Amino acid sequence: MPEALRARLDLQAVLDAAVEAVILIDENGVIETFNRSAERLFGWTAAEVLGKNVSLLMEGAHHASHDGYLKRFLTTGEAKIIGIGREVPARRRDGTVFPAMLAVGEVQQSNPRRFVGFLHDITLRRQAEESARQSEARLNHFARLSTMGEMAAGLAHEINQPLTAIATFSQAASRMLARPEGIEREDLNEALDQITAQALRAGEVIKRLRAFVKNREVRHERVDCRRLVEDSRLLLEADARSNNVRLRLEAAESLPEVTADPVQLQQVIINLVRNAIDATVATPGPRSEVVLSASLDDEGMVEVAVVDHGHGLSAEAAERLFHPFFTTKPSGTGLGLVISSSIIRAHNGRLAYRTTPGGGCTFFFTLPPLGVLPGADSH
Ligand SMILES: Nc1ncnc2c1ncn2[C@@H]1O[C@H](COP(=O)(O)OP(=O)(O)OP(=O)(O)O)[C@@H](O)[C@H]1O
Ligand SMILES: [Mg+2]
Repeated sequence: MPEALRARLDLQAVLDAAVEAVILIDENGVIETFNRSAERLFGWTAAEVLGKNVSLLMEGAHHASHDGYLKRFLTTGEAKIIGIGREVPARRRDGTVFPAMLAVGEVQQSNPRRFVGFLHDITLRRQAEESARQSEARLNHFARLSTMGEMAAGLAHEINQPLTAIATFSQAASRMLARPEGIEREDLNEALDQITAQALRAGEVIKRLRAFVKNREVRHERVDCRRLVEDSRLLLEADARSNNVRLRLEAAESLPEVTADPVQLQQVIINLVRNAIDATVATPGPRSEVVLSASLDDEGMVEVAVVDHGHGLSAEAAERLFHPFFTTKPSGTGLGLVISSSIIRAHNGRLAYRTTPGGGCTFFFTLPPLGVLPGADSH
């Protein structure tokens, strides 16, 4: 058997034994080799596709752009896919589309130029990732529910108080109406105002809890914390201004991104800044300023901090800070920090506080930068 033919047959045998689909194309995208795995994967036989354009194996949009890629690579050497593995939608003979991992290399020293593509089906991997994502979302939901369990006892108490007050004031109002000497309008008004205020308070507690437990889909996005604090500042500006508090931003120029649900993180920042504004307003003094910062801490974690020069924490407050319904404010629900720390925990982060030098509190949370956690998305 001639040497060249033998080499060719050997090569074909190797290709056919390969687990990956191997497809060789010329510089116009015309298929020259199509191994067994490729036949199995795509449902075409080699005989059917040899001499056809490789776009036959691609899904619509990719199909159109592929010729463009190849031309651009040939004229400029600019690689979109060549030399790099990437996920592409591929199309079987029966028209079904599946996700595939494709790596393309140029065949060295061939003239005219040729390219070889290695491809495998990643449907199963995608399915596994999707089910992992779903169970993580369910876990997050449970984490929130168990915080709810913690809250239930406090909640009963918290709702019971306004309900008792409402009952008391409405009984008083009935008695007033039954009085033979007639009604004191002012007294009746007072009772009704109290009933309204207590009902609103109970409603507020329920509203916050409901918003928290609602099984909204938790998003996992790449978040730039610098942008996050800038956006949050816009939302908080009016609140700060109406309280005569200056809200200053200190954000590092470039920060690694984090994987997070930006809406939830914003909710945490808003809770912390509102607390800082409350503490600042309640404290007479010259430093009516709250600083919202985003930086990298000593351990390489992304830190978002809210610095105030308010009254700081009493020993009791320091101890009960994270207990549901602990509040020192007449209209507080005492849920802000509980909800915030639960959100940060669900993001594998930490929420804590330290004393601001010179007095006041600095509440901060840290989050692992993208790629630090095992399994985190890093490409
Ligand atoms: N920056 C701060 N400085 C001083 N005390 C604080 C600060 N942040 C929180 N606290 C104390 O912790 C308590 C609990 O805060 P949390 O945010 O959980 O509830 P709240 O602000 O009282 O009510 P809500 O946030 O539900 O409206 C506050 O009432 C306050 O006493
Ligand atoms: Mg609060």
